[in-house]
Amino acid sequence: MQNNKPLRIALTKGRLEKDTIGLFESLGFDCTAVREKGRRLILPIPDANLEVVLAKANDVITYVEHGVCDMGVVGKDTIMEMHGKFYELVDLGFGRCKFALAGKKNENFYAGVGVKTIATKYPNVARSFFAAKGMDVEIVKIEGSVELAPLLDLANGIVDIVETGSTLRENGLEVYEDVAPISARLIVNTVSLKLRQHEIETLIQKIEQELKEREESK
Ligand code: PRP
Repeated sequence: MQNNKPLRIALTKGRLEKDTIGLFESLGFDCTAVREKGRRLILPIPDANLEVVLAKANDVITYVEHGVCDMGVVGKDTIMEMHGKFYELVDLGFGRCKFALAGKKNENFYAGVGVKTIATKYPNVARSFFAAKGMDVEIVKIEGSVELAPLLDLANGIVDIVETGSTLRENGLEVYEDVAPISARLIVNTVSLKLRQHEIETLIQKIEQELKEREESK
C-alpha cells in the first residue's frame, strides 16, 4: 500500500540542522521552506516528501522513540547519554568532535588513592567510562561551562565535549584522555523502518552515496 504521508525527520536545531539541510540540498531537494523558516518549527520539503521538525537534541531522541517522528539527526554524544530504543543507521560524518576527560594542566589525574570528583553535563557517559576502568568516582552534574568546575576546585576532572580545544586551552586545562569520538547520526524509529522500509532505505542510499562522493573528493 502506498503511504503518501511525508516522512517526518527531527533535526537537532543549530549546526546539525544546517549541515543536514546542506546534505539534502546536495541530494537536489528544495529546502527553501526550511531556509526561510522564521520561527516555524515544522517545515516541508515537498519534492522529497519529507517534513522537518526542529528540536533540541534530547527531544529528537524522544520524538523518534515515541514514533511521532520517523527519523532524526542527533549527535552521538546525546545518543550515548540517553540511549533509547531506535536504530542508529548512518554516521553522517559532520558535527565531528569528541568526548574527553580533561582537567588542570600538568596534574597527574590518576595519582593518589582518593575517590575523584568528575563534573559533567553527561553523567551516564562519565559513569560508564570510569566503570569500564573499574574506577569509583563521584559525578557532579553541571549544566554548562563545565570547565569552571576544576578551575573552582569543585572537581578533579571533567568529561566534556572537545571540538577545537580552545575552551580548554584558554582556561589552562588540557585533555588527559579521549573518551569517544562524536559525529551526527541518522536514527530511525523501529516501527517506521518496518512500515516505510522502502522510502527510508531509498533516502539512506542517496545519503550514503552523497557521503561517499564527498569522501572521495576530499
Ligand atoms: C561545548 C563544550 C565545551 C566547548 C568545546 O560547549 O561543553 O565547553 O563546546 O568546544 P571547543 O573545544 O571548540 O572550545 P558549548 O559551546 O556547546 O556551550 P555550553 O557549555 O553552554 O554547553
